[in-house]
Amino acid sequence: MENFVFYNPVKILFGKGQIAKIAAEIPADARILVTYGGGSIKTNGVYDQVKLVLAGRNVTEFGGIEPNPHLETLLKAVEVVRKEGIDFLLAVGGGSVLDGTKFIAAAVPFVGDPWDILAKQASVTAAVPFGAVLTLPATGSEMNTNSVVTKWETQEKLYFSSPLVFPRFSVLDPETTFSLPPRQISNGIVDAYTHVMEQYLTYPVNAPLQDRMAESILKTLIEEGPKTFANPQDYDARANIMWCATMALNGLIGVGVPQDWATHMIGHELTALHGLDHAQTLAIVLPSTLTIRRDRKWQKLLQYAERVWGIVDGSEETRITDAIAQTRNFFESVGVRTRLADYGVGLDTIPVIIDRFEKRGFVALGEHQDVNPEVVEKILALSL
Ligand code: NZQ
Ligand code: ZN
Repeated sequence: MENFVFYNPVKILFGKGQIAKIAAEIPADARILVTYGGGSIKTNGVYDQVKLVLAGRNVTEFGGIEPNPHLETLLKAVEVVRKEGIDFLLAVGGGSVLDGTKFIAAAVPFVGDPWDILAKQASVTAAVPFGAVLTLPATGSEMNTNSVVTKWETQEKLYFSSPLVFPRFSVLDPETTFSLPPRQISNGIVDAYTHVMEQYLTYPVNAPLQDRMAESILKTLIEEGPKTFANPQDYDARANIMWCATMALNGLIGVGVPQDWATHMIGHELTALHGLDHAQTLAIVLPSTLTIRRDRKWQKLLQYAERVWGIVDGSEETRITDAIAQTRNFFESVGVRTRLADYGVGLDTIPVIIDRFEKRGFVALGEHQDVNPEVVEKILALSL
């Protein structure tokens, strides 16, 4: 196992009715900005619950944060925070609202152009404190330090990470997810699954606990995911999916092990250029990444085949091929298509993506840093 430092201070309030507890988590005299997305919270009762618990408090609202949150929108919120003297943010929504709020939190005290936080990885030295009420299990944003923001003007989707943007608390009430449309349930399952794969499906470093935790999350997603479609009001299935998604990217399974993330980096370009949902891009890129890089991931692919899919018969080659096919089938079975062509994207996107990587001073991706432009090209070509 590699050396590691693990730190995660996020307080999780899990379960039905927990939104009622947030009043005690926010300083009594705080000037609060409640941030949210396109309005789902107003139709599923979450907004009303938040309003009720914050009644009598100093609350301003900022709605309209888009999926794949736009820099341009978030900068408007930064202005509001500065002008109104807001000193606490409450993000209510999915990963986009949480990520957007992390950016707002870091941008408010930032001196200079806040886009530099993402484009130049400028260091974040202060941030407005914030809490979250999560309504879409997928990203793990509720318990991590990451934020992904899109600059609409240039169609660039970039990320930053800072311990200063850990939420102070996150409410995970599975009942808030009952209203999710099937597409977002599907997206959440595929995103969480891929987060685990990025940290697990690399090469062995004798870290059996991390491996088994990762495999447990994968198996739970495979078992519980379909239940949420069969019965959208299945509280236990929703609760299990929600906790899986949080555990998939709160840092725990990734400690002391190599990590890949090539699928995500390529996927972000597909979202930026073609507007695909984040999880759709992962469902397209992950099976191809595993196929093209199977030689370097050989041992872990065999372990994955056996422990997650129960594949023990046949040659090593066949078992690996089967495990990758099972992964693709699983994504398709929960409703996410796995080919570029399914989304009307052609091979002409490849040179554009390579060019963008190179202009940004591309550092080869993957756990061995060997996913260079030629490998990216092969992965995308296989994804058609
Ligand atoms: O905007 P509203 O009206 O709220 O509707 C949203 C949105 O249209 C809707 N929704 C959310 N909760 C709902 C609901 N509809 C009904 N009932 C509910 N309970 O779902 C739509 C998608 O929401 P969004 O927040 O965009 O989805 P998700 O949570 O999948 O977040 C995706 C974003 O997170 C980034 C992605 O790149 C993407 O920008 N990621 C963030 C990560 C992180 N912070 O660690 C890691 C991930 O890999 C990912 O990159
Ligand atoms: Zn993701």
